[in-house]
Amino acid sequence: MDAVQTQSDANATFTPRVFSGIQPSGGLTLGNYLGAIRRFVDMQESGVETLYCMVDLHAITVWQDPDKLRHATRELAAGYIAAGLDPARSMLFNQSQVPEHAQLAWIFNCVARMGWLNRMTQFKDKAGKNRENASVGLFTYPNLMAADILLYHATQVPVGEDQKQHVELTRDIAIKFNNDFGVEFFPVPEPVIEGVATRVMSLRDGTKKMSKSDPSDLSRINMTDDAEAIAKKIRKAKTDPDALPSEAAGLEGRAEARNLVNIYAALAGQNVDQVLSDMGGKQFSEFKPMLADLAVAKLSPISEEMGRLMQDTAAIDAVLADGAARAREISAPILKRTYEIVGMVG
Ligand code: AMP
Ligand code: TRP
Repeated sequence: MDAVQTQSDANATFTPRVFSGIQPSGGLTLGNYLGAIRRFVDMQESGVETLYCMVDLHAITVWQDPDKLRHATRELAAGYIAAGLDPARSMLFNQSQVPEHAQLAWIFNCVARMGWLNRMTQFKDKAGKNRENASVGLFTYPNLMAADILLYHATQVPVGEDQKQHVELTRDIAIKFNNDFGVEFFPVPEPVIEGVATRVMSLRDGTKKMSKSDPSDLSRINMTDDAEAIAKKIRKAKTDPDALPSEAAGLEGRAEARNLVNIYAALAGQNVDQVLSDMGGKQFSEFKPMLADLAVAKLSPISEEMGRLMQDTAAIDAVLADGAARAREISAPILKRTYEIVGMVG
């Protein structure tokens, strides 16, 4: 705790800077939008320097078809822009175009300990029973994520709840590097996990997070779903037979009901108590169409804009190239200094 305290004080000397990333490993989901992108936009609006990355090197830790990866990277960029990220104010780029990410990740492979990575729950979930056959990249994935963040001396990292452990590992890497080399070079970044939608759950199973990799398309709302698909998925969403409660305490033990109320609250910009004071007593047969209408109203302008942007992929590529060039102005000197600290001649 002492070390953390000292390091946090040391953070005072770092300019506030925000970094986050999303994997282009499939389409964007409502979970990505509410848990991440919408909050990326809020941080951009707050006036701090913001960098948002399409982490293509992370995506290939599990198999990606090359054409689909290219498409998903551009579509993710389109999603960022359509949701309100402004390429003039935020640096938007794909990770592979800034080679310093992979270079710093190697240094961190030599800082992080096997025991630390062995504790990562995302690796256990993604590798499943067949650990022997998981890629080595999937295991060292958190070190690359630490490099993403620390390469820019980022101090704040907006993410969904599932990424908390990885940001904590990033903090451990920063602290160990600084201690090992007797420097105060890397800041100790803070995860920013806020709002009612930090963990949007599957529409089919309230105990699993909504994910682009879930085999059932009915489990998630994709940002590219049309009004009909959104309405159908919400209609078919798993619920229980009871009416909605009028207070949050009544959602205890009702994971699916809680999830739909959270989604409604996040989309409406309300808190759960406000939603329940209006909706308490309603059956799901009445609440679901209201939720579907709200979701369509909020999401369809974004998906239409994504479709429009995707018609000009050259323009998207130009945004990414510009974002990467600006990002490198920050990352190159930080990597150079890291090499010097470690003792590389050159
Ligand atoms: P990924 O799609 O795994 O690259 O995640 C990108 C960002 O979206 C991360 O900040 C995640 O925490 C966030 N995210 C992904 N799925 C969800 C979800 N179901 N609920 C809330 N946030 C999510
Ligand atoms: N691991 C994150 C996820 O799957 C994506 C990610 C990679 C990221 N690098 C990052 C998020 C750096 C925040 C900061 O959701």
